[in-house]
Amino acid sequence: MAGKPQNQKLIAWVEEIRKLTKPADVYWCDGTQEEYDRLCDLMVEGGTFTRLNPEKRPGSFLARSHPSDVGRVEDRTFICTTKKEDAGPTNNWADPKEMKEHLTKISDGCMRGRTMYVIPFCMGPLDSPIAKVGIEITDSPYVVVNMRIMTRMGQAVLDKLGTDGAYIPCIHTVGAPLAPGEKDAPWPCEHDLKKKFIVHFPEEDLIWSYGSGYGGNALLGKKCLALRIASTVAKREGWLAEHMLILSLTSPEGKTYYLTGAFPSACGKTNLAMMNPTLPGWKLRCVGDDIAWIRVGEDGRLWAMNPETGFFGVAPGTSDKTNPNAMATITKNTIFTNAALTPDGDIWWEGMGIDPPSTMIDWKGNEWTPDSDQPAAHPNARFTTPAAQCPVIDPNWEKPEGVPIDAFLFGGRRASTIPLVNESKDWEHGVFIGSAAGSETTAAAIGLAAGVRRDPFAMLPFCGYHMGDFLTHWIEMERRTDPAKLPKIFFVNWFRKDENGKFIWPGFGENSRVLKWICERVEGSGKSQETPIGILPTEDAIDLDGLDFSKEEMAQILALDKEGWQAELDSIDEFYKKLGEKLPPELPKQLDSLRAKLK
Ligand code: GTP
Ligand code: SPV
Ligand code: MN
Repeated sequence: MAGKPQNQKLIAWVEEIRKLTKPADVYWCDGTQEEYDRLCDLMVEGGTFTRLNPEKRPGSFLARSHPSDVGRVEDRTFICTTKKEDAGPTNNWADPKEMKEHLTKISDGCMRGRTMYVIPFCMGPLDSPIAKVGIEITDSPYVVVNMRIMTRMGQAVLDKLGTDGAYIPCIHTVGAPLAPGEKDAPWPCEHDLKKKFIVHFPEEDLIWSYGSGYGGNALLGKKCLALRIASTVAKREGWLAEHMLILSLTSPEGKTYYLTGAFPSACGKTNLAMMNPTLPGWKLRCVGDDIAWIRVGEDGRLWAMNPETGFFGVAPGTSDKTNPNAMATITKNTIFTNAALTPDGDIWWEGMGIDPPSTMIDWKGNEWTPDSDQPAAHPNARFTTPAAQCPVIDPNWEKPEGVPIDAFLFGGRRASTIPLVNESKDWEHGVFIGSAAGSETTAAAIGLAAGVRRDPFAMLPFCGYHMGDFLTHWIEMERRTDPAKLPKIFFVNWFRKDENGKFIWPGFGENSRVLKWICERVEGSGKSQETPIGILPTEDAIDLDGLDFSKEEMAQILALDKEGWQAELDSIDEFYKKLGEKLPPELPKQLDSLRAKLK
């Protein structure tokens, strides 16, 4: 049974896109299990999916993408606003009229020989006051089944739309029309990077994605809608759409704290969001691992809601040791993309904590042995898995109003300079440290230069408007409520390395020790020291009970590296200058004051 629309505007729009893209047929998704199973079977037949051994990984599949299509394409991601300055210097801009003309031109007949799927989806629980309905039109069944895991999808959303409800239109095509009789590729897409387009029209809330089938380029509810478009809506309406995990932490005394964390792509959100605390008596629960929609509640506190229903998580490095709850989540009903295939029909990746079998099929479909000089899984290999399967999912994770936030964490991947944890002195200083975030780039996006780049609030690739206006919006949050009710702000860095290039801090479950100190600080206790850069724990403040971690090592990851900070200040300054006049004046003032203190 296919979904049944009643919304005339929607029906007319779908017809308009059908006429343009000229698919072989049109299918309205109902979101049922039966539909999901049918599409998976279809993809197994067509070679897109390999069914994994049902005894090892029931209900699970492996997809191998085309080697040109393995992550987000930031160079090909555009914000199209009438005025260029509304997109700001950190986004690629194009004129909306010209871009739409170009997309229309290349989309003429782009779905030939394929089925056009119409996916009604909702970001956020259907009854949430800030939930947003989107309609994604796509010619990729891979996108349909992934969207069913990642969003609330199908007939219930059409019912919510009714005859005249509002929706955000999202057009997606892999950009690979089929000639009559032409055999389809296992992963159809546009191979030429320069011909891929991930385009946002925030003035009319329209998303149009051409040429890629991978992750955030194609699952348009995620980065395109829930971050780039939602951030512009949030700015207009006075709330926040952020690249943040949400977790709850309960102390041995039974008090629960809600924390969010904004770390750049592949910098540890999924891991922190569902970690098993090594500290006895502490319990952690996961609300979300990637995106938080945050608004001021009636009580004046900030409330965070996870708009998604699944995890699209980085596979490499995920093991029973590092992230046992992710490993438990992905035991069934999971789609793996670009992992390696073992001879017994299961998946494998680097850092899985299991020795690789003597031979495998790598992510490119080639035979692989442990002597191979290439990784078996792509470094940005991912699993798509239902959040409801996570053994530590929080009982409140689907509350329409979300959960009240006690602390914001910011972070990044930094081998030097940035300490393990740093508490801001007040809101403005907190916005400063969030704005000053930098991180080593990762494999989540294609074509980024290696090294540290500024990534304010982990939103550099995801802010749908001028970054200066974004920072102003954060500064102004303080005026939207009683400042005493705002979360405290912290900066964390799990990734500091020693002179041999080894991570100093053990990370993962041991990060609970840092979270404990953060909760203590929320309570107004926790031993601390004022430093020029912020409030740091004293060297004995973090509970190291049962951990083999020396005082010297703790001193090393809390040390104030004055030389490193000089370079850091210059880099922040350079980034601020790039933002120009829209940078809120509070931030360069904070920077100047820090520079003076570090003299
Ligand atoms: P996106 O889904 O791209 O937004 O990434 P993410 O922020 O959710 O990152 P994720 O948790 O998937 O971690 C990315 C990589 O960092 C994985 O390979 C992890 O094993 C590794 N990682 C996560 N947490 C830690 C940590 O505390 N210490 C160390 N050393 N590595 C970590
Ligand atoms: C990220 O890159 O931050 C991700 C993966 O979460 S993707 O959905 O592909 O953007
Ligand atoms: Mn992410």
